[in-house]
Amino acid sequence: MWASSFPFADLQLFPVAASKQATQIDQLYWFITAVSAVMTLLIFACLLAFAWKYRRRVQVESTQIEGSTKLELTWSILPFLVMLIMFAWGAQLFFAAQNPPKDAMEIFVTGKQWMWKVQYPNGGSEINALHVPVNQAVKLTMASEDVIHSFSIPVFRVRHDVMPGHYNSLWFTPTKPGHYHLFCTEYCGMEHSGMVGWVDVLNDRDYANWLAGGGTGTAGSLVEQGRSIFMQNGCSTCHLQDQQGRCPVLRGLYNKPVQLADGRTVIADDAYIRESILEPNAKIAAGFQPNIMPVYKGQLTEANVIQLIAYIRSLSPNEPASQQGDQQRPVVIAPTDANSSNSGTSR
Ligand code: CUA
Repeated sequence: MWASSFPFADLQLFPVAASKQATQIDQLYWFITAVSAVMTLLIFACLLAFAWKYRRRVQVESTQIEGSTKLELTWSILPFLVMLIMFAWGAQLFFAAQNPPKDAMEIFVTGKQWMWKVQYPNGGSEINALHVPVNQAVKLTMASEDVIHSFSIPVFRVRHDVMPGHYNSLWFTPTKPGHYHLFCTEYCGMEHSGMVGWVDVLNDRDYANWLAGGGTGTAGSLVEQGRSIFMQNGCSTCHLQDQQGRCPVLRGLYNKPVQLADGRTVIADDAYIRESILEPNAKIAAGFQPNIMPVYKGQLTEANVIQLIAYIRSLSPNEPASQQGDQQRPVVIAPTDANSSNSGTSR
């Protein structure tokens, strides 16, 4: 990697590069900087040279200089090609940043004035702290409880706005164990500047110790937490029937296409399930009536919704978690679906 052998790499103009993508992004950054520096020098050299060459002198008749098509084409096409390299290179990194690998570990982050709440699949949670193993791709699914925040870990070169009402995500593969800052980088009110925390990248042994130690809660896994919220709120009375009744059965639903009453088809992904919990009337599945399910907006926190989604995912055990939906035939979850002979009993 030439970035690490770059003469100024030790100059600490930058935070350390502690993720796989950090190195790649820095390489592009240095390429753009180098091109800009060369072009700036070239332009200033020409400017000075021509200023000297064509300076005002006595008794010299100025001559009319015609344009040179060849020259103009050269100085148009060459920079254009260099720009295209930047474009292709940047686009490639951009697309890679949108596509977490399938084996990425998923961690949930909720922004809230003025703290970050982190939830792990094993049910543990932390405030303003994130623990990740080294050399493992990690995908963060992020929600906001109130206003727009922005989650940023400079040493990983990742940052993403966290919008209320949406899930946003980013991913990284940490490469250097260490203790690094994480920030909120969007002004979000009085104590925005205090909305900072730490990310710890641990080697395998330390990570195992952290998992085994007090780092995680004892309230059961995220799925178990979701199940108890599901039971407490009475969702189970309607949604866990094996026979479709007034509401859709949730077994096997996750990440499947769902036919809506208005004819559209949507994927039952995290965003859809979240919306269907908080605003059940936003999208009504074909064959069902609106205004049957209570509206949970304002009743549940984003952290609760994340727990519920983890539980609903667990009802579709064969689905790889957190992938975008595959293109399959829509599931028509109609009330009179006779062949919904789901196995397993509701707990
Ligand atoms: Cu949250 Cu600034």
